[in-house]
Amino acid sequence: MILVDDAHATGIFGPHGAGLIAAHNLTGRVNLSMGTLSKGLGGFGGFITCSEPMKDWLINAARSVIYTTALPPAVCAAGTAALALLKQEPERGPELLRRAARFRDTLRASGFDTGPSTSMIIPLKIGANAAALALAERVRAQGVIAVAIRPPTVPPGTARLRLSVTLAHTRDDLDHAAHLLATAARELGLLP
Ligand SMILES: Cc1ncc(COP(=O)(O)O)c(C=O)c1O
Repeated sequence: MILVDDAHATGIFGPHGAGLIAAHNLTGRVNLSMGTLSKGLGGFGGFITCSEPMKDWLINAARSVIYTTALPPAVCAAGTAALALLKQEPERGPELLRRAARFRDTLRASGFDTGPSTSMIIPLKIGANAAALALAERVRAQGVIAVAIRPPTVPPGTARLRLSVTLAHTRDDLDHAAHLLATAARELGLLP
């Protein structure tokens, strides 16, 4: 059974943002994929693509479906509009990934550990919870929202800041953010 969690890829990777399965030519080899409307598509809610029997089983057995109110029509309309936009403007995903790659390179050059990230969601691995919180707080005061992600979301001792690049961030915005992050990390003794 192969399941792909495409939450970070829907709308970004693959042709017209179709996701990782299309990007890696795995169409037909995956049993189930889940995507969200809440990230690349800028809305709320999610979806599962699977066989008809799997769909029937999920509708009747998945507690998260059974005990949830259906999405409001306006939210569905926003998702549909986002998909239409992706069709009309297929350059959005690749452009976002280019901006994120440049931002990641700048952060790495400053000495940050960005892990194996290749997407527009960039972790800055810090380690201790308190250090991650202190860095988040310091840059927040300067206008950069970089949320500290801590256990149990990530393994103990690997607290990190998670940065999300969007197409609303210009090259200058990202250079400025990288500069603020590196300066704050040095002041806190987290970077040499
Ligand atoms: C990898 C991954 N899968 C699934 C989800 C769930 O998406 P949603 O918040 O739309 O339920 C998230 C959300 O953060 C995620 O990061």
